[in-house]
Amino acid sequence: MGVSVNPFERAYQGLEQENREGWNTEKISQSMFQIVSNILQRDNIWSGTLLDLGYGDGKLTIKFAQNGFEVYGIDISPTAISWATERSKAQTINTNFQVGDVLNLPFMSEKFDIIIDSFCFHCIIGKDRKKFLSEAFRVLKNNGILIIMSKCGDPKDPNYPFDPITRCKIEKGIPTRYWGLPENIVAEIKHEGFSVTDYQVFTHDQDLLVVNARKPL
Ligand SMILES: C[S@@+](CC[C@H](N)C(=O)[O-])C[C@H]1O[C@@H](n2cnc3c(N)ncnc32)[C@H](O)[C@@H]1O
Repeated sequence: MGVSVNPFERAYQGLEQENREGWNTEKISQSMFQIVSNILQRDNIWSGTLLDLGYGDGKLTIKFAQNGFEVYGIDISPTAISWATERSKAQTINTNFQVGDVLNLPFMSEKFDIIIDSFCFHCIIGKDRKKFLSEAFRVLKNNGILIIMSKCGDPKDPNYPFDPITRCKIEKGIPTRYWGLPENIVAEIKHEGFSVTDYQVFTHDQDLLVVNARKPL
């Protein structure tokens, strides 16, 4: 999957036309902010350069900018970036949003103190998952923190178009989401060189895995 994947762009255009508030609701983005903030505050990290991978309409990223972080975001959808940029301008918040591919990050190595993934990693399928992690590893500073939020486990909805062998959602014959088992996702992250401090599974309409990882010193 590369820049040619534009079902996301189509999805954002549809959300905009329907006057929706974004990919996620403000309530979900507030709970993601709380989850990430708890991890950062517990680890005494409350400043620095923060990259949001697949920032979408920017609701989560902007909350970190409002809290003094120097925020950057990358997303494959041009509609998402204009949405996020408008949102940050309306709040006179300084952000650095750009269109790009998380599999080929346009940043120098070791730029960021913190990298957040809010549901982008689970949109990355197959061998690209290794590329996603190796790019995150490259642009993270030594001892920097990576927080991954990813849907996981078996679908709660019996009608969800899920292939239990590949653990992927299948749409029109194409795998579009990966819902691995928590321990397998954690193993992928470790395999790319991160040390995993801890991880937690939250049970909602679908299980949510939150992984707190570090690039070793
Ligand atoms: C499930 S949405 C989550 C959006 C946002 N983080 C949120 O929580 O509202 C996944 C996001 O990842 C972006 N995305 C998917 N594949 C990408 C890629 N290869 N490079 C950059 N962004 C990508 C999509 O455009 C979308 O905004």
